[in-house]
Amino acid sequence: MENGFSYVDNTLYAEGVALADIAARTGTPCYVYSAGSILSKYRAYHEALADVPHRICYAVKANFNLGVLRLLAGAGAGFDIVSGGELYRVLKAGGDPSKIVFSGVGKTAAEIEFALDQRIFSFNCESEAELALIDALAARRAIKARVAIRVNPDVDAATHPYISTGLRNHKFGVDIAEVERVYERARRLPALALEGVSCHIGSQLLDTDPIIEAVDIMLALAGRLRARGIPIRHVDFGGGLGIRYKPEDEAPEVKRFAAALREKVLDKDLEVTVEPGRSIVGEAGVLVTRVLYRKRTGRKEFIVVDASMSDLIRPALYQSHHEIIPLRRSPALGTVVADVVGPVCESGDFLARDRELANVLPGDLLAVCSAGAYGFALASNYNSRPRPAEVLVEGTAWRVVRARESYADLVRGE
Ligand code: LLP
Repeated sequence: MENGFSYVDNTLYAEGVALADIAARTGTPCYVYSAGSILSKYRAYHEALADVPHRICYAVKANFNLGVLRLLAGAGAGFDIVSGGELYRVLKAGGDPSKIVFSGVGKTAAEIEFALDQRIFSFNCESEAELALIDALAARRAIKARVAIRVNPDVDAATHPYISTGLRNHKFGVDIAEVERVYERARRLPALALEGVSCHIGSQLLDTDPIIEAVDIMLALAGRLRARGIPIRHVDFGGGLGIRYKPEDEAPEVKRFAAALREKVLDKDLEVTVEPGRSIVGEAGVLVTRVLYRKRTGRKEFIVVDASMSDLIRPALYQSHHEIIPLRRSPALGTVVADVVGPVCESGDFLARDRELANVLPGDLLAVCSAGAYGFALASNYNSRPRPAEVLVEGTAWRVVRARESYADLVRGE
């Protein structure tokens, strides 16, 4: 199953379930994910790397729903976490701690202790101060913490500036020019098992050349470190593979990218970790929304829907494009050029601008596509809007994996 969504007799289905049936039961807005699509993307990584020791550590931040995590844990995935909260979720979902890597520039002592106590696979460390803290906390427990230093390889990921991370002036990682000195100092810290190198250069990369460039840089570094007697055993190349948001996007195929990676690492006697998020769940999710009103102001045509930037902030935050298609397709509808906007009180609250789409009417249902990654994950309660329901479809079965929030949920803790 490629991305899990297709029209059958002009009705949009998620696998074997009509999306309109789900909307009728759960209400809108609501996120719907295809389990088959998620698993097929995971397996594409896993199978292409079959003959090299590897961990596919799904980046939890992209979509942290327990139903999604359980699905991936069941398939044998590892996880890339960036907080104690994500570790808690992965454990709840039955994830195997020995397949967890912990990334991020600002890990707190409490988060590090939680991860040490769970014996996670490795910390991706971003500074000397963090290395010292992990060493101290591991020493107190009389254990050795496996660490990799996150290197900033200084390659240009050529993506949106907010999601590019691998250049020298970004906050992430240790400068490639400094990193060997940092390893030399870190090897004196007794409670660290300094066995890895890691990097992540950015997200939504439609061109894989920069990732492959970073892979070469990292493999060369691993070789130099080994020559110094530092026993590097694993390399983590991060995530970042882009997906198709526009029909004309030429998104890299997971299978081909992973095969290129395999070529690079074969016979290097290294374990390989990747941290894909978006390329596993992005195309496997849609946001279903209902048209509330049509209106015209000045020269502009608006389609007002019940989903907003509080449910899917990507268009407002990154000017990103998400295809918007009707749940019921009909040639008789014709098309219109309009802005698709939500109820939130901000001019920045739009899901599409000046977009040609089906000429839908109030009451009609739309699917905002490729919303499985960084969709619900970035949703908020802005304007006191309850966050939407989430549904997981498996074949002809579906279930709510997160209930729509209630008004009571909105004031919990206040
Ligand atoms: N590993 C690390 C260390 C990361 O920082 C990220 C993403 C990933 C893996 C997963 O990257 P992916 O395979 O999903 O590209 N909110 C933005 C994306 C932020 C990405 C942050 N880091 C968006 O909606 O486009």
